Amino acid sequence: MPNIIFIGADGASHQVAAPTGQSVMEAALGAGVSGIVAECNGAAACATCHCYFDLAYAGCSGEVGEHEDEMLDFAASERTAESRLSCQVRVVAEMEGMTVRVPSAQ
Ligand code: FES
Repeated sequence: MPNIIFIGADGASHQVAAPTGQSVMEAALGAGVSGIVAECNGAAACATCHCYFDLAYAGCSGEVGEHEDEMLDFAASERTAESRLSCQVRVVAEMEGMTVRVPSAQ
């Protein structure tokens, strides 16, 4: 289980031992990380699980899917190169030490 460090909009960090195979959204919610709403429960249909993923780990976060790409345009917070829907990213062992920033609005 890799440790993923979630950083809230207030700057507080929360280290989570994330179970591989879960989505990053599921791992965050399971550990009580706040600021991720996940209204559609992982169906890539709400963009309320938007987070900023450390680009240094882009190789293990997988490609942005077509549907995810469209939904990211509806995210409440600014879309950047680091933007992902956390429900669409699977936890893998190579994510040890990865930082995920939670935006101020979902
Ligand atoms: S939980 Fe709705 S898009 Fe991720």
